[in-house]
Amino acid sequence: MTKQSIPAWLKRNTGWGGPYEKLVEAAQLHAKTGDHPQIAFEGTTLEMVTAIYLEHAKKVGAFDGLYCTWRHVADKMVASLKLQPEDVLLIPGLGLGALYDAARRVQPQLRIVSVECQNWLVQVAEAVGIPITKGDFLNGLNLPLQINKVLCNPPMGKLWGFSKVEGEFLERIAERTIVGNRVAVLLPGEPGYWWDKLPNKYAWLRNAYDIKEAELTQNAAAPKSITCTRYLLERV
Ligand SMILES: C[S@@+](CC[C@H](N)C(=O)[O-])C[C@H]1O[C@@H](n2cnc3c(N)ncnc32)[C@H](O)[C@@H]1O
Repeated sequence: MTKQSIPAWLKRNTGWGGPYEKLVEAAQLHAKTGDHPQIAFEGTTLEMVTAIYLEHAKKVGAFDGLYCTWRHVADKMVASLKLQPEDVLLIPGLGLGALYDAARRVQPQLRIVSVECQNWLVQVAEAVGIPITKGDFLNGLNLPLQINKVLCNPPMGKLWGFSKVEGEFLERIAERTIVGNRVAVLLPGEPGYWWDKLPNKYAWLRNAYDIKEAELTQNAAAPKSITCTRYLLERV
């Protein structure tokens, strides 16, 4: 069978609700053999799904806050955590797994607790064998393990009825961590900006975390990149 380019495949496989169901099928098919019979692509299943999603998002924008972290940023965030084999890492908002892959590259045996709320992303994770906790991280989810490090590119800005959804993520992370635990996180704006502009509701977060590193990170995520800072935080 002749293979198609990603844009050509998308044209044939985008229904009213988008290509998400077809993307799950494509992931399941690719994961079985490391190849897709109709899509010309070289790379892992997650890389293929990411490439298709980003092609689709060029036209319609991000879907429910799914901004894919670029590999160079993911690698830097992981390096800052200095992961040890005995660590238990939490990744809230797994998405298409860029942070998960970056952590695995450094510590292949690491125990990782990944959380995701979008059903199609959960199905993609399952297709490639990533253990996943399905549900809303902002709503009292039970995690299977006690974690001690966190890696997170949260959704940002107005989403799910919150004016700063990333603040909600940092609150839930603070509740699940103890003194000394480390959190590598992307937040909007230049270094320090996010913390200076915090509404009163989130002001307590300034005392919950000590900022160990803050680095301006251009082009942090796709489809639409906003200026972000990569922070390494320590729970205090
Ligand atoms: C900015 S994206 C991060 C994507 C990921 N780093 C990647 O490279 O694909 C945020 C992710 O968090 C997920 N998310 C948003 N709100 C969530 C919630 N309340 N509970 C669990 N996951 C959530 C979104 O579906 C999305 O996959």
